[in-house]
Amino acid sequence: MVGLGEVNVSESKSRPVALITGAAGGMGRACARLLGVSHDLLLTDAVGDALKTFADELSYEGYRLQGAHAGDIASSKLLDALTGELGGSRRITLIHTAGLSPSQADWRKILEVNLLGTVRLLDAVEPLLTPGSSGVLIASIASYFRDPPPDAIKLLRDPFAADFFEKIEPIIQRDWKAVSLSDSHLSYAFTKFQVVRLAEARATRWGQSGARINSISPGVIFTPMSRLEMAQPKGTIAMSELAPSGRPGLAMDIALAARYLASEDASFITGTDLRVDGGAIASLRQKAKNA
Ligand SMILES: NC(=O)c1ccc[n+]([C@@H]2O[C@H](COP(=O)([O-])OP(=O)(O)OC[C@H]3O[C@@H](n4cnc5c(N)ncnc54)[C@H](O)[C@@H]3O)[C@@H](O)[C@H]2O)c1
Repeated sequence: MVGLGEVNVSESKSRPVALITGAAGGMGRACARLLGVSHDLLLTDAVGDALKTFADELSYEGYRLQGAHAGDIASSKLLDALTGELGGSRRITLIHTAGLSPSQADWRKILEVNLLGTVRLLDAVEPLLTPGSSGVLIASIASYFRDPPPDAIKLLRDPFAADFFEKIEPIIQRDWKAVSLSDSHLSYAFTKFQVVRLAEARATRWGQSGARINSISPGVIFTPMSRLEMAQPKGTIAMSELAPSGRPGLAMDIALAARYLASEDASFITGTDLRVDGGAIASLRQKAKNA
């Protein structure tokens, strides 16, 4: 565990706890700063040094930290540590931003982190949900361009099957071959498609605990991840230029949307995806219709 200034939990029973994954990243930081106004913060990220520096910074600024744990979101050791901190009857706000982009890993690692990591995280948190708890999973508009093939969707019923990776790769390659993207891009879009479906699929279970779960599909948002992607030869399309909003997205745009979805103001919203893309998908669809 890293971080300073952990709160005395008995003093803060009335405050909900915000579990923020990918907390050292662009969106994670923005979510921590915004949610930290009303929540105690439980932060996690794969990069321990960056997480510790950020947690120290927040403590210094007066934010209330429940804890900060470094580790891989797909690892049971990390999930045990996080759920150990969540025990009790407090309201939980889960903001899941941790993820890998196409340039950061090969197709398999992207599936492991973005897909299996998300499933494991939800499985770990769900037994602890209390009424009023809420989850927001960060997906991507990458999942809006093309639905994965039905054969691949069938395999998603058991992503922990021993032969899952062997079976999924050729299906994705075969059915998406018309799209001239690398395996990692296909894998990324596929995982984000499934993140959206997971929020929808888990809403009933969350509802049984009086909780809600939604996803957000960001467009291009200025963070370390998008800067890396835009620097690649087959970099991200400059969607911000196409979008009606006419400006690039900020990590705080995502944090504001996540805070809304997690709030009582959104108490009738669950199992749905919110695009926060400055209108990029709307604009692209309109262009396609007019073409
Ligand atoms: N930035 C964009 O334009 C954009 C667009 C659409 C979707 N997204 C999605 O938004 C989310 C947040 O992205 P961001 O732009 O803040 O990226 P970022 O790279 O700034 O932050 C992601 C964080 O996740 C952490 N992480 C990566 N692998 C991990 C693992 N295995 N276990 C734990 N933590 C891990 C990283 O260390 C990093 O701090 C991601 O899921 C990304 O796919 C981003």
